[in-house]
Amino acid sequence: MRIVLYSVLILFVCAAAGIGYLSLPEPEAAEPAPLSAAELAKLPKERKGQVLIYGAYGFSGSGISRLAADYGITPVLAGRNESKLKPLAESLGYEYVVLSLPNNHDNLVSVLEHFELVLHIAGPYTYTSEPMLDAAIAAGTHYLDLTGENHVIQADLDRDEEFIRANIMVMPAVGYDVVPTDCLNVYVAEKVKDPINLTVLMNGNVNAVAGAGLSRGTAKSGLEILSRPLLMRQNGEMVMVSSPKVITRTEEGRMQTLVQIPWADMVTSFVSTGIPTIEVYQVSDGEVPSIFPKLAQYRFGRRLLSWMIDEFLPEGPPPGAQENRQTQITSTATNAAGESASATLTTPEAYLLTFHSSLIVAKRVLDGDWQSGFQTVGKMYGPDLVLEVPGVTREDS
Ligand SMILES: NC(=O)c1ccc[n+]([C@@H]2O[C@H](COP(=O)([O-])OP(=O)(O)OC[C@H]3O[C@@H](n4cnc5c(N)ncnc54)[C@H](OP(=O)(O)O)[C@@H]3O)[C@@H](O)[C@H]2O)c1
Repeated sequence: MRIVLYSVLILFVCAAAGIGYLSLPEPEAAEPAPLSAAELAKLPKERKGQVLIYGAYGFSGSGISRLAADYGITPVLAGRNESKLKPLAESLGYEYVVLSLPNNHDNLVSVLEHFELVLHIAGPYTYTSEPMLDAAIAAGTHYLDLTGENHVIQADLDRDEEFIRANIMVMPAVGYDVVPTDCLNVYVAEKVKDPINLTVLMNGNVNAVAGAGLSRGTAKSGLEILSRPLLMRQNGEMVMVSSPKVITRTEEGRMQTLVQIPWADMVTSFVSTGIPTIEVYQVSDGEVPSIFPKLAQYRFGRRLLSWMIDEFLPEGPPPGAQENRQTQITSTATNAAGESASATLTTPEAYLLTFHSSLIVAKRVLDGDWQSGFQTVGKMYGPDLVLEVPGVTREDS
């Protein structure tokens, strides 16, 4: 499927180059309108225990919204497009509020003032995180999101003092990236004296199910990462590297190739464990054609690729993936004396895990288990939080 997609993409790019001109739709940018009295009247009067899910009708937002009741959460749903938001809210019996993000600070604040927590599920976060965070600070509302974009998480970390002054907890990356890895990294780090190296090996498709592994939002967020210099955590610093490392291992008699990836652990697990060198590798399921990172450097290229993602990629993983796919993560912490500790997590499919992990963290916040400032999940809630996700198991190795 991936090969077919890549071929289609490359053909399309060539055709576009040949024609020399492509008329692409500009990304949607709804004009913010002041909230009506009716919209404001639907919002909770007392903020305690109230959650706003923004981006509720996306693939991940709708999965989380559907599962919220299982965690005792009755959210208000939000997003910028009423025609997608209203049917979802009506089908689940929740209130909704239509809100855009850019240039809409006052409206966002007046909405967030009604909520204890915002679960921000609209990405790429390169564009969506800052306006929501600005409003969360002004409204005194705790903030969780699903970003895996390192530069966004680093920007959050740089605002730690603002969050402390506002007395809110900001915890980005409460999905598959990085709840399981961060919890596992804290677990192995605690077993070794003064660890200096952390290696994480990931296989995202253990009980292989054919078809895409990504939602469109994840693919577009990946473009934002591709468009930036490749940074890796080495000796306490994020340093630029020209290309990712490639390693091999043998699993059940078969050789696997793993490619280093800029997983958010390089920021979050540095905070959680203090380990100065962090390398994350993913089992490779085919090379990304080198034209993609090149195209992603340019605004036009990103618009082209985003449009193609919307046209050609399915909304998310295929039917059956959530029921059958599993992922496996092995983390190893090593110290200067060569002593090490390893453990392996087996988890459900990445999006299903995300639906649960984000709500598990949300529930903790509503139960009063939060600290002001920038927080990471493994540091704040400890290594066992991930074991609360149904189907997750951990084994020492
Ligand atoms: N860390 C993880 O493990 C993990 C797991 C799942 C998802 N994610 C991230 O979560 C985000 C959403 O993923 P998804 O699977 O739900 O993707 P999706 O199905 O493409 O949905 C994206 C959602 O974001 C909204 N959105 C995008 N840009 C927006 C903007 N500028 N202003 C307001 N709303 C905007 C979309 O609304 P419109 O339809 O109106 O554009 C839609 O509701 C992505 O960034 C993805 O990478 C991370």
